[in-house]
Amino acid sequence: MDITFSERTLPEAGTVVVFSMADRDLLPLARELDEASGGAISKAFGATRFEGRTAQIMEVLAPHGTGIERIIVAGLGKASEFEAKSGEKIGGTVCARLLASGAEAATFIAEVPEGNAAEASAFAVALGTGALLRSYRFDKYRTKEPDDKKPSLTAVTIASTEHQSAASEFEDVEKIARGIFFTRDLVSEPPNVIYPASFAKEIEKLAGDGLDVEILGEAEMEKLGMGALLGVGQGSIRESKLAIMRWNGSPNSDEPPVAFVGKGVTFDTGGISIKPAEGMWDMKWDMGGAGIVAGTMKALALRKAKANVVGVVGLVENMPSGAAQRPSDVVTSMSGQTIEVLNTDAEGRLVLADALWYTQDRFKPKAMIDLATLTGAMIVALGWNQFAGFFTDDDDLAAALEAAGKSSGDGVWRFPLSKEYDELIDTPVADVKNIGGRWAGSITAAQFLKRFTNKVPWAHIDVAGMAWGQKDNPLYEKGATGYGVRLLDRLVRENYEVGD
Ligand code: BES
Ligand code: MN
Ligand code: ZN
Repeated sequence: MDITFSERTLPEAGTVVVFSMADRDLLPLARELDEASGGAISKAFGATRFEGRTAQIMEVLAPHGTGIERIIVAGLGKASEFEAKSGEKIGGTVCARLLASGAEAATFIAEVPEGNAAEASAFAVALGTGALLRSYRFDKYRTKEPDDKKPSLTAVTIASTEHQSAASEFEDVEKIARGIFFTRDLVSEPPNVIYPASFAKEIEKLAGDGLDVEILGEAEMEKLGMGALLGVGQGSIRESKLAIMRWNGSPNSDEPPVAFVGKGVTFDTGGISIKPAEGMWDMKWDMGGAGIVAGTMKALALRKAKANVVGVVGLVENMPSGAAQRPSDVVTSMSGQTIEVLNTDAEGRLVLADALWYTQDRFKPKAMIDLATLTGAMIVALGWNQFAGFFTDDDDLAAALEAAGKSSGDGVWRFPLSKEYDELIDTPVADVKNIGGRWAGSITAAQFLKRFTNKVPWAHIDVAGMAWGQKDNPLYEKGATGYGVRLLDRLVRENYEVGD
């Protein structure tokens, strides 16, 4: 989707999006258009229940008196409650409506309610952001889609008095969106296409954006003693990989980095502790954490973030086979700690145990954050597509994550870590076991991970309910959400970047 910004004037033809506050209170150019069209909008009000609630939409086709073919009136809600960032939801909702409508281009007249002039630029940016994010579609394997179902909309113009500042702010948005789309592509691809080596190949391409990339294979990981990660992949014919991405954007090249670590299980059958057939297909997106890390690293490189950032992803396929690990196997992790593997389906924490240890050992990061589709219990606790749950002992890091969650729109909700949970993962057989029983499943998983962080400031974000959208949303079609890229980008921007 092409998004451009222009002067605030009504176009003479095409599809135009204008705004109404609550109670059908049209903004100035919307009123002008209503008058020019002989009251087409006012008449349409009489035929619909449109009131002007935030992101409510009314469509008027072929109004008289102008060359305009289609008017979309979008609601802004009550003027007193207006927030510029509602533009994302509105821009996305309108984009979804127009995407396959036959319209090829649309112009948004980005006006804001009186008294909000300072927010006009932010509103214009938000509209463009929503439209751009919602325009993504993963349809490369649909060869027989009828033409009239295919997207028609390819260009959106945002007309605003603040078009210059909006256009310059939008440059970064576009770069971050490319990161989000990279994440969505990786998450959407089927597991016969994205497996550890092919995922690593995609990451290698990020060198073209300026990242330093290294890929470790099984032989190298064996030398490092990564028995926990390798145990998960040993039942698969696909070779396990560890991918390391580095972005050195800080003017001080010695600055310790912030590190992002991702779970990249390219397919999770459960292994010998096999999952039921129904719903197993969802486990193609069990690499969602790694997808977020890769997309974030791309976004940071594209917008040349002034920070040192490391991304590490553990890439494995969890399969049952004659070579697979067995429930009750004991593996030795890179940290030296032994792990009794009682359930081969609790594999994500095994992958992260070695990826986290490796990351802190090699990079001595000032903070380390892992992202993982780790537990079904997190979806039970927080639901689908509302919040990701996070865990940390560090209150400053918690506050930073909560703030980034609010400003980015990628919400997070804090959960406890506490030594009371340790006894649930103790075992007489080894240093720790990989399951903690029926209760508090997300917390015992986090408590397990903590043992592999070596006291570096660390947070774990369980994105099990966030990587995949269960239904259409203003910012994504049902499918890969790209959740997390904006969260981490914001976190870097607000906490780790050196100001100009
Ligand atoms: N990848 C799953 C968690 C998951 C389930 C993510 C559904 C998204 C949707 C993870 O590897 C897993 O299987 N976890 C088990 C842990 C249990 C065996 C302790 C779970 O949540 O049931
Ligand atoms: Mn599993
Ligand atoms: Zn898994």
